[in-house]
Amino acid sequence: MQDNYGREISVLRISVTDLCNYRCKYCMGEDGIPKRTHRDVLSFEEITRIASVAAGLGIRKIRLTGGEPLVRRGILDLCRMLKSIPEIKELSMTTNGSFLTDFAAGLKDAGVDRLNISLDTLDPEKFHSMTRTGSLEDVLHGIETAEQVGFTGTKLNAVLIGGFNDTEIPAFAELTKSRDLSVRFIELMPLGCSANWDSQCFLSSDAVLKALPDLEFVDTDGVSVRYRLPGYLGTIGLIPPMSRKFCSRCNRIRLTADGKLKPCLHSAAEIPLTGLSDQELENALKAAILSKPKEHLLNQTHQSGTLRNMYEIGG
Ligand code: GTP
Ligand code: 5AD
Ligand code: SF4
Repeated sequence: MQDNYGREISVLRISVTDLCNYRCKYCMGEDGIPKRTHRDVLSFEEITRIASVAAGLGIRKIRLTGGEPLVRRGILDLCRMLKSIPEIKELSMTTNGSFLTDFAAGLKDAGVDRLNISLDTLDPEKFHSMTRTGSLEDVLHGIETAEQVGFTGTKLNAVLIGGFNDTEIPAFAELTKSRDLSVRFIELMPLGCSANWDSQCFLSSDAVLKALPDLEFVDTDGVSVRYRLPGYLGTIGLIPPMSRKFCSRCNRIRLTADGKLKPCLHSAAEIPLTGLSDQELENALKAAILSKPKEHLLNQTHQSGTLRNMYEIGG
């Protein structure tokens, strides 16, 4: 269905847990997050019911997010349940990649169509320092395993951070030389832990165009603008929520792990979806879509309107 600004809402991002095995400095504090009791988190049955009603309103793609979705126990069962909703044409997941060596084959078997994997640096020490707990080797091996079990169209997400990974842009680009991978550079958004970071950390995605002057424009793909280096197999994407905001083509709504519908990543508005009948759920989802704000105001306020951290939304 369309929202009040003529945008066709076809994507539901479902955060299945706030928990994560990493502690990325722009996302979480050193000690992680207070653990929710089981009661607070939607059951797989509740998630599937909400997704089915949303499918009846025009949702065609579901993306599972977290925290880290692979830490939710039984996640493959949820994948199978969501995949069996007839209207859903694509089931995908955004993951930090750390468990993919073990999970890739199971995800493929459970019907997951596509993976987006976070990878902010190709330097093992910097990787450990940014994630506080992670191992670059695990993620690189996970990406290879995903390729081996047949995942295609995999996207690697690197949050661009001035003074951290801006010198690595050419190295990231080399990953696309002979592999069917898309490397996407995301502009850091002031949200949660990163809200008070030094302005030098916030780079425009123009830094990528400057570092890779041979890039050729390909097309726009959802929130990203895609380019390719001549002769390379994969693509380089820019996700520029700050410098070229894409709200006018936003097609998504978000369900949090504790059962709130967020019409916009950067708005504090949340519609509780727990304890509703199917009809009440449909009405609530319709109202949520119609209340989707026109745009975020990050550039004016340099502050997200959401009261949540990224790990409580899922990107
Ligand atoms: P596909 O197009 O299906 O591959 O997925 P995606 O790019 O929408 O999903 P992914 O989780 O990989 O998103 C990448 C990052 O883009 C997120 O983690 C956010 O940082 C950013 N992003 C995604 N959606 C939005 C949005 O609606 N608004 C803003 N400002 N940023 C977003
Ligand atoms: N700005 C931009 N991207 C972010 N992510 C997490 N926090 C931020 C932020 N403040 C990204 C992660 C991951 C995705 C789920 O969201 O790196 O790729
Ligand atoms: Fe975990 Fe993603 Fe937050 Fe890193 S950015 S701590 S991988 S939820």
